[in-house]
Amino acid sequence: MNISQALKNCYNLLSGVSKTYKLDTEVLLAHVLKKKSRLDLFLNTEEELNKEEREKFKDFVNQRISKKPVSKIINQKSFWNFDLDISKKVLIPRPETEVLIEMVTKEINKKKKLKFLDIGCGSGCISISLLECYKKSTGIGIDISQDAILNTKINLNNLNLINRIKLLKKSIFTYKTDDKFDLIISNPPYLKLSDYINLDPGIKKFEPKEALIGDNKDGLRFYREIIKKFRNNIKLNGYLAFEIGDNQFLQIKKLLISNGFIIVSKYKLTNNQIRCLLAKKVKNYTLQ
Ligand SMILES: C[S@@+](CC[C@H](N)C(=O)[O-])C[C@H]1O[C@@H](n2cnc3c(N)ncnc32)[C@H](O)[C@@H]1O
Repeated sequence: MNISQALKNCYNLLSGVSKTYKLDTEVLLAHVLKKKSRLDLFLNTEEELNKEEREKFKDFVNQRISKKPVSKIINQKSFWNFDLDISKKVLIPRPETEVLIEMVTKEINKKKKLKFLDIGCGSGCISISLLECYKKSTGIGIDISQDAILNTKINLNNLNLINRIKLLKKSIFTYKTDDKFDLIISNPPYLKLSDYINLDPGIKKFEPKEALIGDNKDGLRFYREIIKKFRNNIKLNGYLAFEIGDNQFLQIKKLLISNGFIIVSKYKLTNNQIRCLLAKKVKNYTLQ
């Protein structure tokens, strides 16, 4: 079997499984054949797969048929300018989170000696992007999950960034610090339980539940905790950056304003929902 035949067979097998079956096929095959990019497949369509490659590709395709996300099959996901390892039980970084980084880097000067706190670091995607964009920055990353801490460590080591960040396996509901930060950033679990139940089966089966569910009511538990508890850990004129869920903006905005913040930036998705927001702390006391 050559590349052209492998592609054709797999397109057929995955067409009923995934809306992105062509992309999925090409990413999986490129990974099996250790090609630098999908384009390399189309430049070498006559190349034959050896036995080992055929078996590995078959196994990958079967995993995809069982709804496993492509990134979880190859244990890798591109984020911002990097290929991140996601071999542990962590959330696959989403494109919306790249928007969060873009929003921050547009507002905060890249020459700044940024000191940040990343709450719920997961794969490490946010911390890593900040450490790369802000060459003089240092940070703290916390996550309740041991897998997340390990996975973030793998990525920091791979990219030689481990010396500029401290990682803590902690829950934000018990974590306390006297540090003052220029930026607190978080993409916390924000779904209501009722929304989680309706998610795609592939997400529910292969991604950690504790990375997705905020609470049983409105999904805002983490935002309330972060805004109220960590407000005093943000320097005056420092920032709070959040990824947020559908229809959560107005309540979070109210909470931010009553705690001395103003909204300086917000980004909408194609569904017209605000998904990312950046707030600036302009008062050192609570307005009520
Ligand atoms: C939506 S994921 C975000 C992961 C990563 N920052 C990203 O953007 O892809 C939320 C993360 O919060 C972590 N988390 C859940 N409950 C937590 C808690 N009580 N304290 C700290 N982290 C928590 C989860 O383990 C998960 O890694």
